Amino acid sequence: MLLLDIKNLTIELETPDGLIRAVDRVSLSLREGETRGLVGESGSGKSLVAKAIVGVLNRRWRITADRFSWMGQDMLQVSAEQRRKIIGRDIAMIYQEPSRSLDPTALVGEQLEEAIPTSLLDGYWWQKPFLRKKKAIALLHKVGIRDHQNIMQSYPYQLSEGICQKVMIAMAIAKNPKLLIADEPTTALESTTQAQLFRLLASFNQLKGMAILLISHELESVARYTQNLSVLYCGQLVESGDTTAILKHPFHPYTHALIKSVPEFQPDLLPKSPLYALPGSIPTLQHLPIGCRLGPRCPNARKECVKTPNLERLQNHYYSCHFPLLKRDES
Ligand SMILES: Nc1ncnc2c1ncn2[C@@H]1O[C@H](COP(=O)(O)OP(=O)(O)OP(=O)(O)O)[C@@H](O)[C@H]1O
Ligand code: SF4
Ligand SMILES: [Mg+2]
Repeated sequence: MLLLDIKNLTIELETPDGLIRAVDRVSLSLREGETRGLVGESGSGKSLVAKAIVGVLNRRWRITADRFSWMGQDMLQVSAEQRRKIIGRDIAMIYQEPSRSLDPTALVGEQLEEAIPTSLLDGYWWQKPFLRKKKAIALLHKVGIRDHQNIMQSYPYQLSEGICQKVMIAMAIAKNPKLLIADEPTTALESTTQAQLFRLLASFNQLKGMAILLISHELESVARYTQNLSVLYCGQLVESGDTTAILKHPFHPYTHALIKSVPEFQPDLLPKSPLYALPGSIPTLQHLPIGCRLGPRCPNARKECVKTPNLERLQNHYYSCHFPLLKRDES
């Protein structure tokens, strides 16, 4: 079953210098039990897309879409209140900024217990506090925290970044969401803890069938843990499809460059050889090129690229480029 189905999501902000379009007609879908990676350089709009899905962007942002449905229900037709209720029940998000999820002034145990919906606690009302605590402990065990007593009695600042991230994951899964959005869940963690957390998210997907949208600027880790991939550049969706197929044969020059910049994907690269990088840097939203936003950095750019490419489809592989790398020898 299709859970999330978004077509042409656009997110704009009115600034003193005029309207900026931070996310430009991005389409994204997720089926039940699917894992999808959302990758792109810093500033490409990944967090804005995630926040628009869960409805936490403030009113300064203008959000429009041609389609935004959740489990077949048109979210553009329901009231804001209803949308909040539905999304709040079914979708959980682990935020990139830990401060958004953990209150520094409350004990971890209290925060975790509060995140458990009463509807998920069986039993009489007088049993609920006990059941709530029991469930909180079970959640900590699920995310790999054994020393629950100590952790429940601590304030976030007394815990390591890795433990805080695990607590945030426990809070996110407390309501058994159908979709878990993890926005850079491992930033600032050392690599073994990073791998542990990715494996943990993968286990929720395999054991509970939870769909996962894994957001990161690191293509390598996202590719390892997801079935499908969406690549953003500067607020535009450049490519999307099966992760293995994209890694094997990307159609878009940006995805191609992204893959070539990861040493693990270049087994033939001689030691100490420089990694491939596109010339230039990602433009600011105030100085976007017209048409394809990759234009000034793209080795394949031609005059047609001043027109914004549409999202094209070849079987289940989507790309927006006037001159895709459809033949291997073009790469
Ligand atoms: N509150 C804001 N005010 C103005 N511009 C913003 C605001 N939040 C985000 N932006 C801009 O919108 C664009 C997309 O931001 P977003 O945070 O979605 O990027 P991202 O892909 O998540 O980057 P990162 O990998 O650094 O988290 C960026 O250019 C950013 O500067
Ligand atoms: S549309 Fe043109 S500029 Fe954009 S990625 Fe394709 S070839 Fe490059
Ligand atoms: Mg972000």
